[in-house]
Amino acid sequence: MRVIPSIDEMRQVSRTLRQGGKRIGLVPTMGYFHEGHLSLMRAARAECDSVIVSLFVNPTQFGLFEDYERYPRDLPRDLKMAESVGVDLIFAPTPSEMYPLTFETVVRVPRVSAGLCGWARPGHFDGVATVVAKLFNIIQPDVAYFGAKDYQQTIVIRRMVADLNLPIQIVVCPTVRESDGLAMSSRNVYLTPAERLEAPRIYLALREAEKACRAGQTEVESLRTLIRELLERPPAFRVDYVEIVHPETLLPLKEIGADGAVIAVAAFLGNTRLIDNIVISGESSSS
Ligand code: PAJ
Repeated sequence: MRVIPSIDEMRQVSRTLRQGGKRIGLVPTMGYFHEGHLSLMRAARAECDSVIVSLFVNPTQFGLFEDYERYPRDLPRDLKMAESVGVDLIFAPTPSEMYPLTFETVVRVPRVSAGLCGWARPGHFDGVATVVAKLFNIIQPDVAYFGAKDYQQTIVIRRMVADLNLPIQIVVCPTVRESDGLAMSSRNVYLTPAERLEAPRIYLALREAEKACRAGQTEVESLRTLIRELLERPPAFRVDYVEIVHPETLLPLKEIGADGAVIAVAAFLGNTRLIDNIVISGESSSS
């Protein structure tokens, strides 16, 4: 497995792969791998000739008082894990390689970025869309893989790809969870042992809401209250948002109808912000 830090070299290598008729799969990441990341790499390995993983903790998607500096990093461990699932290439640029001093362009997808995490983290999805657009342009993959854990991110990327006519297929893979239901996340290492024991309550609350919905409780306000009450039981989470939105527009719903819904939660345990979601499939969908 080769590690490439420079944009020029990455471009050359991927051009050669394309000219050789290889189908290139890209998995964009910020590193500190867990099974969620590996599931995307395995999916790419199964479907592509060349699997490229980008590993870049993107400063522009972190707010001023967020955890950019202390975001967990462990390159040697990540390289071993990526190699173990058959990744061919790691693109690992430095911040100054990606953002020279002259840098100023921003890719914004304002409507689908507005609510949920975009509301809670202003500018976050501008940073995500911009860096992913850069990665797509540098690597020019045929397919790119994203996780359903970051549901809004997948919608932002899909909108950007459609609007800018980027010739890249987007594949979304299911959320990988710990055995107690906690969605895997690089940020889970921030949790104290006591917080770690409480953390699965987010998914349990989402499942309760899903169950209530399937039993006919489709009124959004009462489902939101149900989730809030479960999260606010001591030891309480500090709820950032509990939203029930349309699965494509991400606009808030009053009632869950034929199109289904996404129930999305962001909540703090101590200083750690956790997000999770569950998709309620609509009548028209087969899943
Ligand atoms: P990062 O948080 O490292 O996640 C990289 C990819 O792994 C994303 O597509 C994310 O949705 C997916 N992922 C994370 N946890 C997962 C889980 N438990 N199950 C399945 N997939 C999971 O998301 C980012 O990085 C960045 O915003 C990025 C897209 C790389 C742009 O900087």
